[in-house]
Amino acid sequence: MNRSTLTKASLAVAVFGASVIALLSDPPPAQAAGAESAKPGAAEPTDKIARGKYLVTVAGCNDCHTPFKMGPAGPEPDMARMLSGHPQAMVMPPAPKLPEGPWLVTAAATNTAWSGPWGVSFTANLTPDPETGLGKWTLRNFSDTIRTGRHMGRGRPILPPMPIPMYKNFTDADMEAIYSYLRTIPAIENRVPEPLPPATPTAANR
Ligand code: HEC
Repeated sequence: MNRSTLTKASLAVAVFGASVIALLSDPPPAQAAGAESAKPGAAEPTDKIARGKYLVTVAGCNDCHTPFKMGPAGPEPDMARMLSGHPQAMVMPPAPKLPEGPWLVTAAATNTAWSGPWGVSFTANLTPDPETGLGKWTLRNFSDTIRTGRHMGRGRPILPPMPIPMYKNFTDADMEAIYSYLRTIPAIENRVPEPLPPATPTAANR
């Protein structure tokens, strides 16, 4: 296998692996969604937000976008910083040398910074803060990002381990529910760093 094939294979494994971590189950069947939104007497907007909260919870967004802290039973998402992404104050040292295959990825203790064959990615701030979060995003910006795997549907590619290959399958209604819920959570000002490109292979890190 030449180097580029190896990198492509590694990337595929990374995306697959992350998706397995993130998605404990397939999205619920359509009739379950229908049954839930058909609850008698529930006002439509609240229902949509409740469904968004449910989807964000079970699809594991907090696993990566909420910094982990050490709890009594081991690392757990720090809900005081819910979905605010990689902490701005946590400036990461240079990523370690890529592990020997089949080991592939190195992650920060917070689960918010990831180093792999794609470089280093930092999980985004999904709170409604207008400058550092999704505050200015429209539903269209959000669903275009998830459907195309590009920032706002036309910018740079969204890097692993964001499970785009799985999440692009959310229905329009689920996409809208998630977006609507994310607008209701506390805004947290936290500027996440830009991703870093892969280290150029040298004799030292090859
Ligand atoms: C396995 C880890 C992981 C999980 C689970 C995850 N994300 Fe992400 N997400 C990331 C990483 C890492 C990035 C940043 C990628 C980059 O910079 O290219 C990201 C980026 C994003 C972006 C793009 C932000 C931008 O500015 O372009 C959005 C939107 C997003 N995630 C939403 C979600 C939602 C909603 C969920 C749950 C349904 C979720 N993510 C679950 C890791 C994850």
